[in-house]
Amino acid sequence: MQQGTKPFFNCKAQHKLVSEMSDKKTQSSNSPSSQDISFDNIANKFDKNIYGTTKGRLRHEMLMHNLAFLWPVLNENACVLDAGGGTGEFTKELLAKGYQVLLNDISMDTLEIAEQKLADYDGLSLHHGAIQDIPAHSQFDLVTCHAVFEWLDNPQAVLSHLFELLKPGAYLSLSFFNQDANLFGNVLYGNFQLINNGMKQKNRLRLANHTPLKPKTVLNWLEELPCEVLKKSGIRCFHDYLKDKQQQSDNYQDIKQLELQYSDQEPYLWLGKYFHIVIRKN
Ligand SMILES: C[S@@+](CC[C@H](N)C(=O)[O-])C[C@H]1O[C@@H](n2cnc3c(N)ncnc32)[C@H](O)[C@@H]1O
Repeated sequence: MQQGTKPFFNCKAQHKLVSEMSDKKTQSSNSPSSQDISFDNIANKFDKNIYGTTKGRLRHEMLMHNLAFLWPVLNENACVLDAGGGTGEFTKELLAKGYQVLLNDISMDTLEIAEQKLADYDGLSLHHGAIQDIPAHSQFDLVTCHAVFEWLDNPQAVLSHLFELLKPGAYLSLSFFNQDANLFGNVLYGNFQLINNGMKQKNRLRLANHTPLKPKTVLNWLEELPCEVLKKSGIRCFHDYLKDKQQQSDNYQDIKQLELQYSDQEPYLWLGKYFHIVIRKN
């Protein structure tokens, strides 16, 4: 930490709310995240629509599978940031492992749901604010940022910032909605009008209103940073493309088995609805 800098988050002390905003629903106009999309007012819908379905379950289970190698490597009391952690589903896993977790989100609605959900766990601190507003001197052993980049105005700038928040040798787990898979899926579903409109959804739920990224674009950004890419994998390489959607739940274990087998294999990894990258900072 720089000398004279006021600590923002002390990993050893649990903070109820690290940074409180005077108006909990309002972003400052100077905020670097003023164009980013908050999940205020859709937090409940997100929690139910995503985590109540095989889509959310499989995304979550694949992330856990991909990160299993980390748990024996991290210290017992590792300091973890769940950036844009929403309603706290992934934070719950981290707390269950005994880590000290700072759950950050620009949406107070999501944090309120998370706070209730995680009331029985030790080690939780909440930060209401933009990822970009977390001071660079806060240093973490692991940063997770899942399904957030597609909601950001400038994901590359946020990637650089997240990178600054890592201690040397620390890990970043990043997953984001895959633009290539989005196009592929829309062709399979026959959504030609949507494709011809440049994939801009009209009159749709806000949950569809995001900007997917190409995996190769993000991998190119990472090439400019001093880090090693440890894992690259697709999440839901098959599940979303099933013709008979009923099979997503009826044959869940069969599909999951195939996802586990092929998620990091060519060519399937590039067609996962989400792309997952794990890096270690040099
Ligand atoms: C799709 S949700 C993902 C939540 C969680 N990571 C998960 O996987 O369940 C995206 C979250 O990013 C948050 N978000 C968007 N822009 C943000 C920013 N600049 N800083 C912090 N959170 C942000 C939204 O409010 C929302 O809760």
